[in-house]
Order: sequence, then structure tokens, then C-alpha cells
Amino acid sequence: MKTNDQLEPTVFVIFGGAGDLTWRKLMPALFDLSQDRSLPAQFAIIVVDRIRLGDSALRHRLHDGVNKFSRFGKPKAKAWNQFTPHIHYQQGDFKKLQTYMALGKQCEKLEKEWGTKAHRIFYMATPPSMFGEIPKYLGKAGLARDREWARIVIEKPIGYDLESARALNAVLAASFIESQIFRIDHYLGKETVQNILAFRFANPLFEPIWNRRYIDYVTITVAETVGVEHRGGYYDHAGALRDMVQNHLMQLLCLVAMEPMVSFEADEIRNKKVDVLHAVRPIHRDEVPQSTVRGQYGSGRNGGNKVPGYREEDGVARDSQTETFAALKLFIDNWRWQDVPFYLRTGKRLSQQATEISIQFRAVPHQSFPPEASLGWQPSRLILSIHPVEGIVLGFQAKYPGPKMQLRPVDMRFCYRESFAAPSPDAYETLLWDVMKRDATLFMRADQVEAAWQLLTPVLEVWQATAPSDFPNYAAGTWGPENTQGLLAPGHRWPLPTELVAAVKKGKNS
Ligand code: BG6
Repeated sequence: MKTNDQLEPTVFVIFGGAGDLTWRKLMPALFDLSQDRSLPAQFAIIVVDRIRLGDSALRHRLHDGVNKFSRFGKPKAKAWNQFTPHIHYQQGDFKKLQTYMALGKQCEKLEKEWGTKAHRIFYMATPPSMFGEIPKYLGKAGLARDREWARIVIEKPIGYDLESARALNAVLAASFIESQIFRIDHYLGKETVQNILAFRFANPLFEPIWNRRYIDYVTITVAETVGVEHRGGYYDHAGALRDMVQNHLMQLLCLVAMEPMVSFEADEIRNKKVDVLHAVRPIHRDEVPQSTVRGQYGSGRNGGNKVPGYREEDGVARDSQTETFAALKLFIDNWRWQDVPFYLRTGKRLSQQATEISIQFRAVPHQSFPPEASLGWQPSRLILSIHPVEGIVLGFQAKYPGPKMQLRPVDMRFCYRESFAAPSPDAYETLLWDVMKRDATLFMRADQVEAAWQLLTPVLEVWQATAPSDFPNYAAGTWGPENTQGLLAPGHRWPLPTELVAAVKKGKNS
């Protein structure tokens, strides 16, 4: 393992270490950090799980995950062999105090070996039903007591609704203080998501026009082509609103709409984000039908192949009323954004995979060009593309070559891969590294999570109370239910992500 002597000793405990998250994300990210010299020399991973797995079976499974998902490809045997001695396995029931006492002893043993105190990071990679249990036991075992050296990491779903989110936050707060709690939203670890702050606040160009005077409307799209895959059991109790809107889309909204931060302190940035959620105009129950659209995919085609409808997926009820598509129209009641619509949409089994934010600027106040010059005229538009295309496209008007004055839309592009030789780390690498450094900037604070739930509560309640009569209402491989168009004000439109992909491809080929 290539280590970094500047980093303080750390014990990284993974509860649920034999599960999917550890296999697919955590271990590959930790391994990749080790290859980048981003782990301390004194470093241990303790994998805790209920199931009885021998050390070698566990290592075999983790190796398989690293082979499949490491950013560096299959690791060389030497690199893996240097890494594995840092992995320890402890079998234990998450609901028994003795598991935690043994864990404490194991941490002490490592500290003794190293001759120094170590940071202890407790990562809950378990089913959500354990999220309310593990912190209690860590507290009882005295493992949460050190406010500087002990931390807990929790993944979404943080609650199922406002009430359960509050209850979970209260359980966490009973043993840990807020600065010890790291709530992961993996979207915040994406380079392109972090770049929203860089783009907005490291350049003087856009901030002066980033407001209601110049911006007509904003769309945020998170479109997936995949269905629910092997997660039908979980998803059928969650749905798109809980699974994607409450967390990932709300984070994107906050980053686009927040006021400039005064410093890069975690709490300063998080305060500015929470301000956005507090300023979002509440959707009253009777406005839910006009302000939202829900959908569920039926069978259709995906990449040329026939795919089943949602109700035919494994783990999904045959008469399920769970939405796999959600769209919302929101307004932010403050000086910057008054009356500018923010349209959010996300769905599974859509026509194309794309996560992007589109900022549609207003038309010029006076059209001084002759009408024949501006036939194809379009107001300027800025697209922040998060995934899979990573870049920014600014569409504006230019003079078409020739003797006459004719305007045509053109694009100016920034593409991550073209501009930077450095590969982007996986979001989990960034987030785990930040947990080790105790930097909470990219993590959700309790009040932000609760504010997001509060905002969506009327929608959840109305959707729950009124069964959709038309599910499934979009075919797999399309752009979602037809009435999504009805959310938009006249003249507004959802941009087709294909436009951006085409723009970036054109850039690459030119
Ligand atoms: C997860 C959701 O949080 O995000 C999944 O639970 C979704 O349903 C995934 O597929 C999308 O993440 P990404 O990074 O692939 O856009």
C-alpha cells in the first residue's frame, strides 16, 4: 500500500462489510485511495458483519469488487497483497453490545501496536433498518465519546419521511454531536457537482446575471435508462421522490440557487444551502396536481432490447402504485429568484441517461435585428452537464457567415476530459477522503435533510392518498409521462439531453 505519512492513524470500521455497498463502492474507493497515497501508513479496515465469512472468503469477495470497480482496473497482485493485511474481519450481531465491546478492544489493540491514538470512523453500510440501532450501541459502548476522533457515516435513505428523518437524527444526536456525523449524498462527491460552486463563484462573469432579471427558468434533469435492477424490494417502498428528489435533486437545486458563500467553511456552505430550502415556496396539498407529475414505466425498449414494465420487475408488487418518474415545479421566494420557475424531473427507464442543469436566459429586451436576420433565434442557454457527459455548454447567437446579417445559435463548450488530463476520482473516493480529513462540506446536515423532507411532505401525502389511475403511464425508453409538458409555463421547454451530447461530440470531432 502506498501510504501518506502526513495523515493521522485511522481505523475504518464498516458495518455490513459483506454487503453490496462495500463490495461495489467502499472497498474499491479505499483501494483506489491507497494507490493514490491518500491513506495513512497506520490504517486498518475492520469489516463487521452478521454473516459468518472466513477471512479468506471475505477477502476473495472484496478482491472481486476491486477487480470490477477500481478506477485503475484490475489491481496487480503485488498492490492487492500489500493492501489486504490492512483488512480485518469481525463477525458480530449489530444488536448485541458485545459486538461493540469487541470492536472497541480491536481498535485499542491496533492503537497499541501503532503506539498512537487513531481516528475511528464507523460507516453504516447496512440495510436502513440498522441505522437507528448501531449509533445507540456505539454510544453505549463508549465508542462515540471522543468528539474529535470518532465519527459516524450514514448513507441515504435518511428516514422515510419527515417524522422518521427527525427520529433518526435524534438517535444519532443522542450519541454523537453534529460535527461527528457525516451523511452521505454521493452526488456531492461528483466533480461536476462540486464544479457548480467553482463555476458560479470563482468567475466574475456569471454571478451578476445569475438572477431573475436575466434568467427565465431553470430545469434540472436526472434521467436514467436503467430500471430498478435488483433493488425492486427497496424501491417499491421508496419511489422516485424519496429515492432521488429528496436528496440528489434537492442538492443540485441548492447549489444552483444558493447565495455566494463568504468562506469555504463547511457550515457556511451548508447554511447557504439550507437557506434555499427554507425559501422554496411550500407546495400546498391542493396545488400538488398542478405542481407535480408522477409516472411509472411500462414495458418498452431500452438500447434496442425489449424490457419489462416496472410491475413485472423482481420484488415489485404486480399492482404497484410506486412512481418511477417524478417532476416538480418549484419557486424560490427571495430577491434573487422570485417567480423564476425551477423544473425538476427524474425517472428510471427513460430514453437516455443524462444528469444536467439547464439555465435558460431571458430574451434580449429589445430586438434590434431585422426579423429575417433572426429566424432561428433562441435565447442564450447554459447547460451544466453532470453525467455522463461532464462539461458545460453555453449556447448563444452568432452571425452566420455571408453578406447578410443572419443570426444562428452556436455553442461554446467546456469538456472535462478535453481540458484536464487528470482522471476524475469516483465520488466515494472524494467522500471517504473528506470523512478522514473531517471535512463536512460535502455532507448533509440534519437541518438540510429535514428541510428537504418538509418541502416534499405534502406531495408524499397527496400521492399516497390518491391512487394514480393511469399507471403505467409511460413506456420504457421514452421521456416519461406526456403530461410532464403541462408543468411548464407557455414557451418553456424541457431541453433534450441529446442536444448537449451532440454538442460535446461535435466538439470532440471538430
Ligand atoms: C441512488 C439511487 O442514490 O442514485 C438509485 O438510489 C440511482 O436509484 C442512483 O440509480 C443514481 O446515481 P448515479 O450516480 O448513477 O446518477
